[in-house]
Amino acid sequence: MSTATIASRSYAACASTPVAFLGLGVMGYPMAGHLAAAGHQVTVYNRTAAKAEAWTEEFPGGSHAATPREAVKGARMVFSCVGNDDDLRSIVLGDDGAFAGMEPGAIFVDHTTASAQVARELYAEARKRGLHFIDAPVSGGQAGAVNGQLTVMCGGDQDVFDQVAPVADAFSRAFTYMGACGNGQLTKMVNQICVASVVQGLSEAIAFGLRADLDVEKVLDVIGKGAAQSWQMDNRGKTMAVGKFDFGFAVDWMRKDLGLVLAEAQRNGARLPVTALVDQFYADVQAMGGNRWDTSSLIQRLR
Ligand SMILES: NC(=O)c1ccc[n+]([C@@H]2O[C@H](COP(=O)([O-])OP(=O)(O)OC[C@H]3O[C@@H](n4cnc5c(N)ncnc54)[C@H](OP(=O)(O)O)[C@@H]3O)[C@@H](O)[C@H]2O)c1
Repeated sequence: MSTATIASRSYAACASTPVAFLGLGVMGYPMAGHLAAAGHQVTVYNRTAAKAEAWTEEFPGGSHAATPREAVKGARMVFSCVGNDDDLRSIVLGDDGAFAGMEPGAIFVDHTTASAQVARELYAEARKRGLHFIDAPVSGGQAGAVNGQLTVMCGGDQDVFDQVAPVADAFSRAFTYMGACGNGQLTKMVNQICVASVVQGLSEAIAFGLRADLDVEKVLDVIGKGAAQSWQMDNRGKTMAVGKFDFGFAVDWMRKDLGLVLAEAQRNGARLPVTALVDQFYADVQAMGGNRWDTSSLIQRLR
């Protein structure tokens, strides 16, 4: 990410706040960058220290620490974005974890796509320690993170959410309260159910168009102005047609998310036959070597 991209975003006025950011991956790195560019005092932690060093070189006002516990010292808010439930537990709990170093009243805001259960578990643990926890998964992909235009769905206590919202505005287009702890993750699951079936439908449509020898780019331009239009069609249709997948949201992440969805559906009794099928189709893509391909690579099974 270039500092120029970050600098092109304008920020609402908000008092400079001491914050920490844990996890500088594809999403976390630019999100932490927006917090720094908005004038907050940011300390970062990343398991692979080289990324934290690169981040502080790019954002010289910020600093980095060797453990989550050290990074959160003095922070009013701690943001995180790591891979899954286990990764999240490993940066939050334990002697070197964030909760061990946070001061009473501080707020932990987790942007990982994780289970509603781990959110509730960490919310309860935070309360025991006089801390606060908000589950806040994001949608908008790498481009949304780089442009500071993420859609963020939050669960937890409303008064705590209200304190975080002006700060999180630095990387959000919409930062929305969805109710009790876990509801952010449940909302993200609804999002992923929608995405799975839309991408499969789009894959079948484009594979059909290619076999029919149509000019698929032209087809997408035409039907993209009608009832078939979708974000996936607008942003992925043309790259699907030419078989380009070396960017975007990885198939491995999608399978992790659909695993969370299907486990939650077992608990709440929702029937998700199409989602379960698409999950298996993504397993086929992994077997083809597509673990890090964008989720639109679902079409590769049909070529
Ligand atoms: N990429 C997207 O388009 C997108 C969109 C929406 C939501 N998400 C969600 O956002 C989350 C992060 O995605 P990403 O694309 O940023 O992933 P990523 O690039 O793979 O980054 C993962 C980050 O988590 C850290 N991490 C993983 N396991 C850890 C552990 N056990 N202890 C400490 N740190 C650990 C990694 O540290 P290292 O650098 O040391 O590996 C890295 O900083 C995921 O839950 C994903 O589903 C991603």
